[in-house]
Amino acid sequence: MKILMVCLGNICRSPLAEGILRKHLESLNLPHSIDSAGTINFHSGSAPDPRAIEVAADNGIDISGLSARQVNKMDFEKFDFIFAMDRNNYKDLTSLSTREQQKRIYLFLDFAGLGQKDVPDPYYGNKKQFEEVFELLDHASLQVSAKLLKNNSL
Ligand code: 4NP
Repeated sequence: MKILMVCLGNICRSPLAEGILRKHLESLNLPHSIDSAGTINFHSGSAPDPRAIEVAADNGIDISGLSARQVNKMDFEKFDFIFAMDRNNYKDLTSLSTREQQKRIYLFLDFAGLGQKDVPDPYYGNKKQFEEVFELLDHASLQVSAKLLKNNSL
């Protein structure tokens, strides 16, 4: 299955979510390809935010090689699951896609069974906010990977 994680800049939340969900899918031996993108192009070509790289590394995940890119129309055809980190990202994604394509776009925490909530944007925060986002994404990714495994075996 092909999965795309999406936030605003593709330097904080979605690269973390990509690295974390990849770890969970690998541990379940679930065949996948996973990528991330941002709704804006401001950081295109940049590595993840140093704070995101650091928090991931503290938890044994290397996201230092990732490079930011903007979502494009082909993504809506290419990916089976497109996960928005917050409701603004979700709105932006649905406004760019057709009704048929919208069926593959989900609010990440909602899909994880955690309610229609946003992954908070840590960009203007400090390391503590990044650590909290890591914990939230890790918890949600455990739920999401179990749900994807179940869907895959139906
Ligand atoms: P992200 O965080 O969407 O989690 O990557 C942000 C990155 C950059 C900006 C805002 C949020 N920015 O305003 O440039």
